Amino acid sequence: MLKTNMIKEICILLIVTSLVKKTVPALVGQSDIPKCSYGDRGSLTATCVNAYPNYFRSTTYRFDQLDETVLCLNCTLTTIDTGNFDISGNQIRNLWLNNSRIERISPKGFMGLIFLERLYLSYNKIKSIVPTTFSGVKKIKYIDLSHNQIELLVNDGFLELHSLEELNLESNLIQTISVSAFNGLTIIKTINLGDNRISDVNGVFGNMTSLNILNLQYNRITTLKGDEFLNLTGLLELNLANNNLKNVVLELEPNNVLKNLYLQNNLIEVLAAKFLKGLHNLENLDLSNNLIFDISIRTWEKLFQLRRLNVSYNHIGLLQTGTFAGLPQLELLNCSHNNITEIKITGVFSLHSLHALDVSYNQLTDFDYVGLISRLPRLSFLNLEDNKLPCPLEDEMARYFEEDNFKYILYNEKVGSFKCVDVPTKSSLKNITEPVIATAEYMPSRISGAEVTIIVLMCVVFVCIGFLFYMQYSTYQHMYSNRPSRAMSSARLVSSEIDNGDDSYLQG
Ligand SMILES: *[C@@H]1O[C@H](CO)[C@@H](O)[C@H](O)[C@H]1NC(C)=O
Ligand SMILES: *[C@@H]1O[C@H](CO)[C@@H](O)[C@H](O)[C@H]1NC(C)=O
Ligand SMILES: *[C@@H]1O[C@H](CO)[C@@H](O)[C@H](O)[C@H]1NC(C)=O
Ligand SMILES: *[C@@H]1O[C@H](CO)[C@@H](O)[C@H](O)[C@H]1NC(C)=O
Repeated sequence: MLKTNMIKEICILLIVTSLVKKTVPALVGQSDIPKCSYGDRGSLTATCVNAYPNYFRSTTYRFDQLDETVLCLNCTLTTIDTGNFDISGNQIRNLWLNNSRIERISPKGFMGLIFLERLYLSYNKIKSIVPTTFSGVKKIKYIDLSHNQIELLVNDGFLELHSLEELNLESNLIQTISVSAFNGLTIIKTINLGDNRISDVNGVFGNMTSLNILNLQYNRITTLKGDEFLNLTGLLELNLANNNLKNVVLELEPNNVLKNLYLQNNLIEVLAAKFLKGLHNLENLDLSNNLIFDISIRTWEKLFQLRRLNVSYNHIGLLQTGTFAGLPQLELLNCSHNNITEIKITGVFSLHSLHALDVSYNQLTDFDYVGLISRLPRLSFLNLEDNKLPCPLEDEMARYFEEDNFKYILYNEKVGSFKCVDVPTKSSLKNITEPVIATAEYMPSRISGAEVTIIVLMCVVFVCIGFLFYMQYSTYQHMYSNRPSRAMSSARLVSSEIDNGDDSYLQG
């Protein structure tokens, strides 16, 4: 027994010491010693750990045609000096220097990387890009400078980058962009300036006609005067969401191709007439989460290609179909989360392309679905969820749309969601005055029909009485024609009484 126990203990001791011997020195050795090594066969990737700026030139590792991609891990590259990457024979195309504690890049810091196409510099502490930083790297297509500490984009910082297609400057501290900051970017397609502190973009983008995508979301822009993006005729997408925009006028040259415009999460209250000028290729417009309370018909002039319009989460109180009549391609209109109390069927023209209308989360107490559908011949989806609609509407609409391939939502099936208001519906009353409904498909209930007849009769009686009164006063007027002023005011009194009578009928 004793013997076997001793043997066991010795064995454990041996194992432990051998483990310690193997692992501890290895850990100590790898923690600071810089080293470059080739990855898996065929990976075309070299990984350098713990490198310092001079290391790439002094290492015995040979960067050859197999090292297309170089990754730097746990590197400390505080200052990249001129020539630090002038590695003889290198064919590096992708250089990952993110998270490498870079604070400064000297002029010509990347000289020698003649094959470089993609440069990743995100998550460093770079404060500025001085002119000639990129001298000698002519093939570069993509630079990621996101998550750094750049405050100012100086003139000509990117001047040599004639092949650059995408520049990512997201999440820096950029406040000022000098007028010639983007000089030289002749074929640039995408610039991401999102999540910075930019308040003014006047004159910055000049005539960068190659630009397709410009992201300026999460900045501090308050006003757009109109000509800021005027010459960006290649622009497909402009993102101005999440700024402090209050007044917006946007104009592009007539040959522009802008398709997507994002203006959500701003402070826009009023959409000026024709606030979008020349955007006749625009397809998507997002204006959600603003403070818009009124939309006029002149707002949308010449947006002939607009397909999706989102005005959800605003303060719109009245929805008039005629307002959107100038948008012949409109397919989706999202008006959810507003204060809409009424949908008015106005204008002469139908919205021929509208497929989906979202008026959920509003204050509608009733609406004329028959009239609405007659103006929206293509409508196949209508969301009415979370309004104050009367309960009988459900049965009514079910009957009316029985044979239609038409999807509508009256309330959310979720437990606790608001369903409907328990009052008799008024829409049936409206429907009888609409010529469209005089079909066999739909008959309002008999009681309401009788009520309508009575009201109409009463109305006729009132009008007759009023007329008789008026006749009587006209006679007075003739009799006292020598005192015209008093007779006139009496007549006015009577006619206003008649008006009041009419109004009270309409309101009832
Ligand atoms: C990088 O450093 C961290 C901690 O300093 C360490 O946990 C990690 O293993 C290192 N990575 C490499 C690849 O050396
Ligand atoms: C747009 O281009 C015209 C003519 O090329 C030029 O005069 C004008 O200054 C440019 N506008 C802006 C805002 O750069
Ligand atoms: C670009 O804009 C500048 C003014 O900002 C103007 O002088 C120049 O003529 C324009 N270039 C072209 C090619 O339109
Ligand atoms: C309308 O917008 C709301 C809020 O942004 C969204 O939840 C909803 O899905 C949109 N409706 C449609 C039909 O796209």
